[in-house]
Amino acid sequence: MPTLLPRPQTSTISPGEFALSPDARLSTHPDLLEPVLRLQERLRASTGFVLPISVDGTDVPDTEGDAPRIRFDVDATLAPEGFTLETTRRSAMLTASTPRGGHWAAQALLQLFPAAVHRRSPVGDTRWTAPLVQVDDEPKFPWRGAMLDVVRHFAPTRDVLRFIDLLAMHRLNTLHLHLTDDQGWRVEITRYPRLTEVGGWRPETQLGAAHGSAADGRPHGGFYTQDDIREIVAYAAARGITVVPEIELPGHAQAAVAAYPELGVGHAAPTTPWTLWGVNPVIFNVEESTIDFLCGVLDEVIELFPSEYICIGGDECPKVQWVEDERTQERMRELGVHDEEELQSWFVGRIGQHLASRGRKLLGWDEILEGGLADGASVLSWRGRVGALGAARAGHDVVACPEDTVYLDYRESDLATEPIPTGTVTTLEKAYSFDPVPAELDADEARHVLGGQANLWTEHIDSMRVLDYRAFPRLAAVAEALWTRGERDYAEFAPRLTAHLARLDAAGVEYRRADGPRPWQERPGVSGRTRSVEEAAAHLARITANIS
Ligand code: ACM
Repeated sequence: MPTLLPRPQTSTISPGEFALSPDARLSTHPDLLEPVLRLQERLRASTGFVLPISVDGTDVPDTEGDAPRIRFDVDATLAPEGFTLETTRRSAMLTASTPRGGHWAAQALLQLFPAAVHRRSPVGDTRWTAPLVQVDDEPKFPWRGAMLDVVRHFAPTRDVLRFIDLLAMHRLNTLHLHLTDDQGWRVEITRYPRLTEVGGWRPETQLGAAHGSAADGRPHGGFYTQDDIREIVAYAAARGITVVPEIELPGHAQAAVAAYPELGVGHAAPTTPWTLWGVNPVIFNVEESTIDFLCGVLDEVIELFPSEYICIGGDECPKVQWVEDERTQERMRELGVHDEEELQSWFVGRIGQHLASRGRKLLGWDEILEGGLADGASVLSWRGRVGALGAARAGHDVVACPEDTVYLDYRESDLATEPIPTGTVTTLEKAYSFDPVPAELDADEARHVLGGQANLWTEHIDSMRVLDYRAFPRLAAVAEALWTRGERDYAEFAPRLTAHLARLDAAGVEYRRADGPRPWQERPGVSGRTRSVEEAAAHLARITANIS
């Protein structure tokens, strides 16, 4: 069988091969031009062949004679991201009903060629042959994503673009960018320049797991200009990927409060973004002026990001500052709000109304279920599956990203050499077992589960080298879990993954090898917060009691 990853719904293989040569030609229905352009670029880079494209209805003729032909056609009966791919001795025929389907068809075709097709220049005398296959495929879930935290460590635009290429290779269609948090504000907002001038930079960073442990003494920061964001969004869209922005509220607010102290509670506002990891008591106040400020921020965000969903965070918001602050308590009486949980609901509800007035949907971490969730809000279920259960049963859409399965910053083994061990052990096999739909849901409820995503928090991911190590190959396993319908079996996946690792090598990905970390990956003196399975289970039980 072809070593396609994710595994297709149906595929057959027959004897013979399709051989690409420099006289090959590309042709397409005009609606699928974008995927053809991407395929042309990839083949030009790796094979050196500059393959002409003819678009139906223009005066460049489609191929004649014996030249190999790659042809994209629209088949409106296919599912939105579905595709077919058929290779014969003379041609590769790809069909899809949407550009996205066309992109996934092209990615599947690339996987039929030698892995070097993922390099950026030709290396040696590769024979560019593909097996003869017939593939019919469509994804299981419409939301197949990865979240990248660009706050804890900033990822420059060039690195985000590279990450987008890697998502596209795995037919993942959503990049969730975590853009603001206590430790930094990473998106230019023209009406509030101090958000990035002040909030974009922190003086140093905690090294150890516990507060009070050593700091590195090095400033860290960076942010995306609005043009950087436009570039990222357009680059992703041209590869079938939607970028979903996240602006955190009402907690994880220190960088914003440092920039604009009037957003904070009480008088002792911090003067810099936070230099520590963990959950921070600094949160937004609940004045009308603060809601206005945040709606102004979101208006610029909405201009930049065409995504249907806008994530507003909502996780880990300690209420101590609200409890202790006289003005907040007075405001609660004004609003007729009974406790601080309900106040968070009120806050999120106000933001949700604003997003709805702009035609967008609110997405938040599962804490937004506590204190009541506004109609139309959707939930990122991260604390196990309790959020997914509660939200789907209440009729809210859900994206599953349980921390025990798809937090890819968590350590992959118990080896002492595992770099900066964090979280609970999350093996490749565990990531492969990901199923976004809790078994307890009936079919109607399960329809609310849009899919899932892997999350990459970057407290301990300070470079793309470390990101590669954490993300791969587990993200390939998650991609298959979200794409492939029917039974999946790790033993069947493992040899296909071995073939796929050659593609990652060719693409320059420093994935984690099965035999463990390499010496450079150790960061002596730096430690994350590790948990045993028992501790994690006890933690989850406390959350479950809170939600249900
Ligand atoms: C989260 O991991 N705090 C969403």
